[in-house]
Amino acid sequence: MEPIQLFVPTFRVDETLAEIRQCLEKGWTGLGYKTVEFEEAWQRYTGLPHAHFLNSATAGLHVAVRLLKEQYGWADGDEVISTPLTFVSTNHAILYENLRVVFADVDEYLCLDPASVLERLTPRTRAVMFVGLGGNTGRLEEIAQLCRERGLRLILDASHMAGTRWRGRHVGAEADAAVFSFQAVKNVPTADSGMVCFADPELDAEVRRWTWVGISKDTYTRTASEGAYKWHYDVDHLGFKYHGNSIMAAMGLVALKYVDQDNAYRRLLSGWYDELLDGKVQRIPVRDGCESARHLYQIMVEHRDQVMLGLNGYQIYPGVHYRDNTTYPMYASMRGTCPRALDASSRLISLPLHMRLTRQDTARISDTLREILARLGRHA
Ligand SMILES: Cc1ncc(COP(=O)(O)O)c(C=O)c1O
Repeated sequence: MEPIQLFVPTFRVDETLAEIRQCLEKGWTGLGYKTVEFEEAWQRYTGLPHAHFLNSATAGLHVAVRLLKEQYGWADGDEVISTPLTFVSTNHAILYENLRVVFADVDEYLCLDPASVLERLTPRTRAVMFVGLGGNTGRLEEIAQLCRERGLRLILDASHMAGTRWRGRHVGAEADAAVFSFQAVKNVPTADSGMVCFADPELDAEVRRWTWVGISKDTYTRTASEGAYKWHYDVDHLGFKYHGNSIMAAMGLVALKYVDQDNAYRRLLSGWYDELLDGKVQRIPVRDGCESARHLYQIMVEHRDQVMLGLNGYQIYPGVHYRDNTTYPMYASMRGTCPRALDASSRLISLPLHMRLTRQDTARISDTLREILARLGRHA
């Protein structure tokens, strides 16, 4: 029996190598050149007005929080409302900037519930951090409205949302900053990289000064556009080494050509799971009007850990996205403040979802899962 993994990235190998080859032949693998091409391609693809390519979404989330904090004059200790059902980077980004994470609970889409966000507002709330879990928009547009009405900033952690559309339009424009991940198992896979898309042109210009250690001019511009290498530059603040490079951008440029096709296949796989598991397990719905990138296919079961072990016994290796962050020691003081997230955290399973799976694989996974659930149900 072949093992079935949760994620396996599919790279178009020859095409990707040809794109990378251009960098090697030119003698340019760093910032500039392909990074600029990829930023432009991403803007064309999403329709977003700005895009800055980085070495990860974690870096993107950090600079998004940092620049919004600076522009709007937030003080240390001001609050950002966020979800506890996410990868740790989402909330690390808030803490890096000495802001407070205030957790609100999730809804049936496992995304922030606007009613819970409203309950957790205080005079020190400055922003909402929304995660489109698994590519689902959830009630993103309601949260965007709520932020507009109350003068709060909205940051979208769109790490799972490359290709997600809401009512036909790519997500991102509703937020002050949208951050995408192109880490190896994401829907636009590179090895590690990400994109930050600010709504405000000033912040888009400003962010470039922060992501190349505070240097005012990138090396490619200094080399290519002016003939000879110009050694002189200025540094007026403490920037970070967060920018992306041309090898990652070359990988991204190729992956981007296939993302719609790949996401359509992810939706087909999800449809097969829906059909094969119908009525047997609790599924996480996709919001009407959302064309989800389907980064994840999630279900909720009782006896989750036993179910996972049972599946492993048949060489099927699912995942969990995510543990309620309040169960981590660093957020222990907020443990249990979001009951729905806590409950999901102990019952969620992400079934294998990637381009190499076939209908037979989804049938093997679904049949095995139903058998394990029936066995556990009898012994419960
Ligand atoms: C929801 C979420 N946010 C942020 C990240 C961080 O992305 P990156 O690995 O590109 O830094 C991830 C990656 O797993 C994620 O799933």
